[in-house]
Amino acid sequence: MLPTIAREGDAVVMIDQRKLPAAEVYVRCKTAAEVARAIKTMVIRGAPAIGVAAAMGIALGIRKSKATGTQRLAAEFYKICEQMAATRPTAVNLFWAIDRMKRAFAKAVEEGGSVDQIKDRLDGEAQAIHDEDVASCRAMGAYGSEVVPADARILTHCNAGALATAGYGTALGVIRGAIEAGKKVAVFADETRPFLQGARLTAWELIRDGIPTTVITDNMSGALMRQGRVDLVVVGADRIAANGDTANKIGTYSVAVLAREHRIPFYVAAPLSTIDLQCPDGSRIPIEERNRREVTHVGGSQVAPDGALVWNPAFDVTPHHFIAGIITERGIFRPPYIDSLKVAFA
Ligand code: MRU
Repeated sequence: MLPTIAREGDAVVMIDQRKLPAAEVYVRCKTAAEVARAIKTMVIRGAPAIGVAAAMGIALGIRKSKATGTQRLAAEFYKICEQMAATRPTAVNLFWAIDRMKRAFAKAVEEGGSVDQIKDRLDGEAQAIHDEDVASCRAMGAYGSEVVPADARILTHCNAGALATAGYGTALGVIRGAIEAGKKVAVFADETRPFLQGARLTAWELIRDGIPTTVITDNMSGALMRQGRVDLVVVGADRIAANGDTANKIGTYSVAVLAREHRIPFYVAAPLSTIDLQCPDGSRIPIEERNRREVTHVGGSQVAPDGALVWNPAFDVTPHHFIAGIITERGIFRPPYIDSLKVAFA
């Protein structure tokens, strides 16, 4: 399986997603600050993968601490947590993973653990977050395959695959699950401007797995649907509010509106760690705005003139009424999400 991120001794190692598909390069982060920078600059991206990276970064930072007492260690621990929390605001998996690490730390201290025992506990928790994410993706794949027709043409947006998780993927996990269940699947990957996660990453990992993949530019999905060439849309999520409103990569909302117009089922696949019951609806989800250069340039080439104003939101919110179902590791939840998502956590 594709190694998105792993702890290797005194480093957290991740495949550099900015360089794919041209080069397969691995980045070795030797400090928590380097992991935080890797998240911010999108060496690693995708909501679950960001959470795993933050957890591993925290464990690494504490492993390297020279503190001899718990109090000093705690001060360093909370500082590193703050550093991780300041990387990207939208994916709630980041904050979920940091909270899990905080609970693990508090429990180890409460039990009177030594500095070394606390370090071991944090390493173990980060690895558990990693391993549970892979298991969740596989469960999502098995549940999600039920909504995939026997011979399906599936459109997806951004990259919600092995690269965006600890492995296997959420939306792409559903595709992998359907294929494992014996279904025939062909994928349309939106290129996903401006960072091109669809063209660069989704196409790369699906083709690597031998899954037929057609890359289209973002403005082609309407015409494709109108020609009757899409049976199903499956996307991932960065944060799902209590009422089912879903933040995902910019452009997802447009795809959902088009899918509704053409009566194509639109599904979201995400682990429970992406569901934020504290957030009542999509209007309360913080949307990250990124650097203007991502829009004015493609690779090294400038495509918009100097002086042009730029708006570059990294995500948009798809209102819950466009979503046919939310595929999780606990099954597929249906509208009204305000009730069904609570059951998911029961
Ligand atoms: O900006 P990115 O690349 O981190 O955005 C990623 C997405 O929007 C994904 O669809 C989402 O995180 C789900 S990943 C399983």
